[in-house]
Amino acid sequence: MCLQVAGHLFEDGKAGSLVDDSGHFYKPLQAGARGQREWKFYETVQLEKQAAVASSSTVDSSYENGNSSPPAATQSRQDSSTRQGASFQEPFCVRNATLLSIIPTYYGVIDLRGRPLLELEDVAQQYHRPSIIDIKVGYQTWYQGAEEGYIQRCQAKDAATTQAALGFKVCGMQVYRASQMGYWRASKRWCKQLPAEAVGKALAIFANNEAGLQPGDVYSGPSGAIAQLQQLAAWFQVQQEFCFYSSSVLIMYEGDAETAEEANVSVRFVDFAHTFPSGGQRDGNFIQGLSALTSMLSAVACSGQYRGLV
Ligand SMILES: Nc1ncnc2c1ncn2[C@@H]1O[C@H](COP(=O)(O)OP(=O)(O)O)[C@@H](O)[C@H]1O
Ligand SMILES: [Mg+2]
Repeated sequence: MCLQVAGHLFEDGKAGSLVDDSGHFYKPLQAGARGQREWKFYETVQLEKQAAVASSSTVDSSYENGNSSPPAATQSRQDSSTRQGASFQEPFCVRNATLLSIIPTYYGVIDLRGRPLLELEDVAQQYHRPSIIDIKVGYQTWYQGAEEGYIQRCQAKDAATTQAALGFKVCGMQVYRASQMGYWRASKRWCKQLPAEAVGKALAIFANNEAGLQPGDVYSGPSGAIAQLQQLAAWFQVQQEFCFYSSSVLIMYEGDAETAEEANVSVRFVDFAHTFPSGGQRDGNFIQGLSALTSMLSAVACSGQYRGLV
């Protein structure tokens, strides 16, 4: 079963991700700063989780950048909220509860024949026939301080895809087609060439499994993708600790479901090779991209023009 719908694949001699039966997903640590950043992000969050379990006190920490070793969960930081004149900040696990629930659980780094792999929760494990779409969020994938050549490459890619125009890009998808008892998978090329005018249709195609599910079943309702994305957006409105460039939301559902309830839709957040401390700023780039995505999904879910489309 192929679970990886986008990203670095087993091709051209490069290593891709692996899954095992225990429900773990192994992602090769990328070379250089990217791998270090993603590893550090997961280590930071994991340390905070452990600190919360070990102590019920409000020990706090900030996400620091620049060290090759993961930060310790110790340092406190000023916050805008004040109680009785004293500076007050909720513990990391409380103020970032939404983040913690949406990212994969992290189990550490393992070595596979000399290659370091991040050991993560397999977020698609609960599905019998996982339909998955990977959507990279944000109007830009580059960030201040990156190498000039990297910025130019990102700008060119963002302009050539829907990233810069729409605020998000479909990076990959697999859809279970119940009538054919098999998957349709979008190629990397198909995703790269998807024009802005066709994105609504692509999102509708993703939510139609030919077994009765329609976009409204996957995207709308109290447990649909839009409601889950709105919960993430609410966290983004208040969080000022992280900036996420080139990260993706994964929308998943049970491919052979016949009703919205059976679809068991889940939204998860992945890919932190370009995640940075935000220095007390909101992540406007991600917020705006997420808002654009949510609007497009709402339009697709409500529009009769996509009904029955395959
Ligand atoms: N924890 C996970 N569980 C299951 N599948 C995952 C997980 N993380 C990523 N994937 C799959 O792998 C793909 C690539 O993951 P990603 O972290 O974006 O890697 P890359 O850095 O190569 O882009 C995603 O589109 C998704 O299909
Ligand atoms: Mg990715």
